[in-house]
Amino acid sequence: MDHFELKDGVLHAEDVPLPRIAEEVGTPVYIYSRATLARHARVFREALAGVDNPHIAFAVKANPNLAVLKILASEGYGADVVSGGELARALAAGMKPADIVFSGVGKTHAELVQGLEADIGQFNIESEEEGYELAAIAARHGKRAACALRVNPDVDARTHEKISTGKRENKFGVPLDRAADIYGRLAQEDGLDMRGVAVHIGSQLSTLEPLETAFGKVGALIAELRAAGCTVTHADLGGGLGVPYKAGENLPSPAEYGAMVARVTRDWGVQLMFEPGRVIAGNAGVLLTRVIRAKRSGNGPPFVVVDAAMNDLARPAMYGAWHDFDAVAPTGDRMTAHIVGPICETGDTFAMDRECDALVAGDLAVFRTAGAYGATMASSYNSRGFVAEALVDGDRYAVVADRIAAAAIMDAERVPEWLT
Ligand code: LLP
Repeated sequence: MDHFELKDGVLHAEDVPLPRIAEEVGTPVYIYSRATLARHARVFREALAGVDNPHIAFAVKANPNLAVLKILASEGYGADVVSGGELARALAAGMKPADIVFSGVGKTHAELVQGLEADIGQFNIESEEEGYELAAIAARHGKRAACALRVNPDVDARTHEKISTGKRENKFGVPLDRAADIYGRLAQEDGLDMRGVAVHIGSQLSTLEPLETAFGKVGALIAELRAAGCTVTHADLGGGLGVPYKAGENLPSPAEYGAMVARVTRDWGVQLMFEPGRVIAGNAGVLLTRVIRAKRSGNGPPFVVVDAAMNDLARPAMYGAWHDFDAVAPTGDRMTAHIVGPICETGDTFAMDRECDALVAGDLAVFRTAGAYGATMASSYNSRGFVAEALVDGDRYAVVADRIAAAAIMDAERVPEWLT
């Protein structure tokens, strides 16, 4: 459930009419709903009622906006970060260092140092090599780094191939059959406090089965590690729960996910950790755009050219992803159209042959479910500048990320003297 609804025929975010934001901030602009974010954070936590003392870390990559992180921090969420930049954001948003988990397959030396110096709660180690590097840095700092070893369970998440992470051929984690040996060796390192295992098999999962299979393998590994004399007190089950992108689409609910987790992990005797991203932020945001013009095509449906493009919302171009597209002030008339952005490549297409509200030049429309992996994946391709972001709270809103104009990006460039 979200808080983007028609009121008196006009789409609102909570109590703010979207045309007001379009007028005042311009388009394209991402709009987030505070009430929706807070609600999703609570729903996910309540879904884990059957789990003793779960640790929930929001996957910052899904939406790293400082205001969004602040809301989640106030809901008691920690952060799952994958770069020094994300770590800095989580800290700036007030997340407690102890509640921050550092994931990522390519943490640099500088990032490992940054995490240690910030006294973060846990490093999810992706390889034996990374473990030794962290151990050496920790020893030099006179610290012990709390670590989980990320395993690759070789499970097909049955999601888009570009966001599947738990197959043997994917770059993530250590192979399950080598995990116990690696864990045992890393546990000998003075600089490391090997305390658990981590798994994340992919994103936008539309069924719980692959997760259950992967968790089953993790449970067996925990037993094997303990039998070998290792200590295991934590298990990080990652993120991955999908959200509906199409009205009426049916996906496993957080409650079903939580019940499955509670059942599968009943005897593990560990603190469970979670890294949800999309399920918290996805439906809490829309991308508001204005129709530049409709253009007749050869003989098919018209092209509706909007002022948002693949640089603002990459998911359709990158994964062929579907985002519902609705008029802000629907007349009741419908049409079939190709929805495209202005960028000079055919990939800048949001939808082909889409049945949608009838729209003409100047009309406002939204791409829904754009709160996760939306603004965070934006670029300035075609010198379009970076899209703005706004946060709604009841009947007020604030710009939470300024639009970065193409001119400002150009200002950061230099033409060396010797070219003039
Ligand atoms: N933990 C780890 C280690 C991850 O790699 C990810 C996502 C998450 C947690 C959060 O997963 P979520 O709960 O959001 O599914 N850009 C793609 C999604 C990439 C996801 C990458 N990792 C998209 O737009 O669909």
